[in-house]
Amino acid sequence: MADKRIIAVVGATGSQGHGLCEAILNDPRGGCACRAITRDPGKEKARALAARGAEVVAADLDDVESLKKAFTGAYGAYCVTNFWEHLSAAKETQQAKNLAVAAKAAGVKHVIWSTLEDTRGLMSADDRRMPMLQGVYRVPHFDAKAEADKYFAALPVTFLIASFYWDNLYSFGLAPKKGADGVYSWAFPMADKRLAGIAAEDIGQVAYGIFKAGPAYVGRRVGAASQHLTIEEMGSHLSKALGVGPIRYDAVSPDAYRGFGFPGAQEMGNMMQVYRDFEKEINGARDTEVARALHPAMLTFDQFLAKHGDKIPR
Ligand SMILES: NC(=O)c1ccc[n+]([C@@H]2O[C@H](COP(=O)([O-])OP(=O)(O)OC[C@H]3O[C@@H](n4cnc5c(N)ncnc54)[C@H](OP(=O)(O)O)[C@@H]3O)[C@@H](O)[C@H]2O)c1
Repeated sequence: MADKRIIAVVGATGSQGHGLCEAILNDPRGGCACRAITRDPGKEKARALAARGAEVVAADLDDVESLKKAFTGAYGAYCVTNFWEHLSAAKETQQAKNLAVAAKAAGVKHVIWSTLEDTRGLMSADDRRMPMLQGVYRVPHFDAKAEADKYFAALPVTFLIASFYWDNLYSFGLAPKKGADGVYSWAFPMADKRLAGIAAEDIGQVAYGIFKAGPAYVGRRVGAASQHLTIEEMGSHLSKALGVGPIRYDAVSPDAYRGFGFPGAQEMGNMMQVYRDFEKEINGARDTEVARALHPAMLTFDQFLAKHGDKIPR
């Protein structure tokens, strides 16, 4: 452990960070040691990481001093925030700032900040195609992360731009639903545009590739996506994998989607409208070849379905 480079992993018990912990722990000759950060070292996922050789350290994104301690002595830090826990863009930006302040204080040599784009830059301020949310944001969980990029800019940082997790099919209630006529259908406001997607576990694996590549990636923005698929294409792969017959795609308008009323419907509606209206910009920032070069075993959608399809509700 002493001769290895310590990678401090925020969100080690979550999708992105856990993927990175797995990558480090599965590569004992890779020269890196895993420091898993959690608020609760006693939780099962943290104890499982400890049992596999990770150093588990307690810290809280709201407590910058705890983050400084958790980053001390680390070569690398993987920084991620979780908007969905509190749904506040302002809080997310503050938590990200805390991470950047702590990484600077601890003298971390390579930071990866899991960010997204500022969608406000894609539209003029008076554009009326979608509502503003939380006062000043188009897609709060995108814009809030992008707003924090400036705090990382003076550090040796790689900006990692995450993509839609295919895991949302089971973890975010986005699977097709069976209608009274027995036909499965799903609704998205994506028209015929392509959605950049990835198995969540692969984001951390791409990050591991970046840490291993080192300084060549400092100062760069790297997209983490495996494939850009239309909803029709996703439906056809999904239909075969689940054995449920054809899946009907209701290509609803963004306004209709925002009106669905589930928690986060407005946020998701705005996000997917951005994917639809700015396909070139969003997918252009997520070059699948760049990510695959960093993580050659990255799952395709079919491989993701073969591995995780049993979790998708029928
Ligand atoms: N779902 C998608 O398609 C998608 C796509 C792109 C980007 N994202 C972004 O991904 C982010 C979430 O990442 P994820 O999916 O890896 O998370 P996740 O699986 O939901 O897990 C959340 C992680 O964050 C940690 N965490 C939350 N609040 C914390 C705090 N105050 N202090 C310390 N740790 C804290 C949790 O650690 P403990 O509970 O153990 O402390 C846990 O490890 C979100 O901001 C989201 O916008 C999601």
